[in-house]
Amino acid sequence: MTRPTFHTALVTSSELLTQPWLSDLTRMVNASYMVNYTNVIKFSPKKKRLQTDSTLAEELGEGGFTVVAFISNGPDQPDEVIGTASMKKWKDDGEWKPHDEPMSTTDRVDQDLNQILQKHVCLGDYELSTVALPPDPRIRGKGIAGHLVRLCEEEILRRQRASEKTSQSPVRIMIRTVKENNSAYWMKQGFTAVGSRTCPEGFWDAAEPFTMWAMIRELSPKSESESKQKDILEV
Ligand SMILES: CC(C)(COP(=O)(O)OP(=O)(O)OC[C@H]1O[C@@H](n2cnc3c(N)ncnc32)[C@H](O)[C@@H]1OP(=O)(O)O)[C@@H](O)C(=O)NCCC(=O)NCCS
Repeated sequence: MTRPTFHTALVTSSELLTQPWLSDLTRMVNASYMVNYTNVIKFSPKKKRLQTDSTLAEELGEGGFTVVAFISNGPDQPDEVIGTASMKKWKDDGEWKPHDEPMSTTDRVDQDLNQILQKHVCLGDYELSTVALPPDPRIRGKGIAGHLVRLCEEEILRRQRASEKTSQSPVRIMIRTVKENNSAYWMKQGFTAVGSRTCPEGFWDAAEPFTMWAMIRELSPKSESESKQKDILEV
């Protein structure tokens, strides 16, 4: 029997739409988000992370890209989509509250100051999005998500080096996540909460209200050699 081999592909948002495996990717992402490591916040059984095959490309927009992981089970078998992670430009809508500083309700001056500060709570460069693996114990828990995130970050650094305005300042990678279910995972990956907001039932198809966190990890251009370390992935 052929031993499965692991490989990845990086595609831009426009290239994504023409990939033969696009529907497999959509199905995998939707199945992934139905099974969480923790289930503190429950979601509708009808939750669909991606409504159609073009949703991800639309979300990523110009400049966005996706890394997809596959296993090949032999020459006569189609490749199987076993993971994904994406990057897009970060947009701060100014609606975030500093996650550890509840706003004073008594002091008018404090409130005004807080409103100004809130506008600058979540400054970022890129948003890591749609990090998903199938709900299969043979696939999860092996560092594959971490590997795909690193490939996304390497692409950001490569683009930064290739751009005219090269800078040594760190790139701010953001993530929006359900605090109750996934913040522990992202903290383990080195992210820190910077912004918080309360989301009502129904938002992201949640069956109850939840707290969304904006988390940040700064990516130093100098850490490139560290990120080039080879991962050994056994699937
Ligand atoms: C979150 C997810 C991408 C992690 O993928 P993965 O490849 O299994 O992750 P890694 O192998 O890199 O890390 C696994 C580790 O994180 C832990 N972990 C995974 N999800 C976690 C969570 N939600 N909270 C706390 N720890 C978590 C695992 O127990 C494991 O810990 P260990 O290394 O101490 O054994 C995957 O579980 C998934 O697809 N979840 C559903 C989709 C989702 O919620 N995506 C995140 C959106 S913000």
